Amino acid sequence: MWLVFKIPLVLMSLYTSVFSNDKVFKEYCWGCHHQTSVAFGPSFEEIASKRTYGEIQGHIIAPRSTYIQLGYKRSVMPSFKDKLTIKQLDEITNFIISFKKEN
Ligand code: HEC
Repeated sequence: MWLVFKIPLVLMSLYTSVFSNDKVFKEYCWGCHHQTSVAFGPSFEEIASKRTYGEIQGHIIAPRSTYIQLGYKRSVMPSFKDKLTIKQLDEITNFIISFKKEN
């Protein structure tokens, strides 16, 4: 009886962990970006507070084309153009935006 109730729960948590935005983040970005603290790259909180949706997506797809405009002297971030689907790109962008502080 216990198992009958347990299985749907396990499936549900599996589903959310596979399809939630932070999977992309943990897999591809976390080594260099943290949510609220500065790592190798700026925190998502900082990015969200000063950039538009388009600027953020632009930098994920083509950091070499946008870094000067964003005020960096050089860019060391890899492009994720071929690694992410459009859907994942939207998800990770919304994930970053979600760290914007209300003020
Ligand atoms: C190898 C380290 C590294 C990885 C991996 C990485 N980044 Fe970056 N990122 C940086 C650095 C360093 C910068 C600062 C500018 C530059 O070097 O291009 C940056 C800048 C950015 C910016 C623009 C910052 C600004 O000032 O607006 C965004 C947006 C961004 N990263 C998103 C991501 C996302 C999303 C991922 C994962 C899909 C990711 N980065 C993965 C290192 C990384």
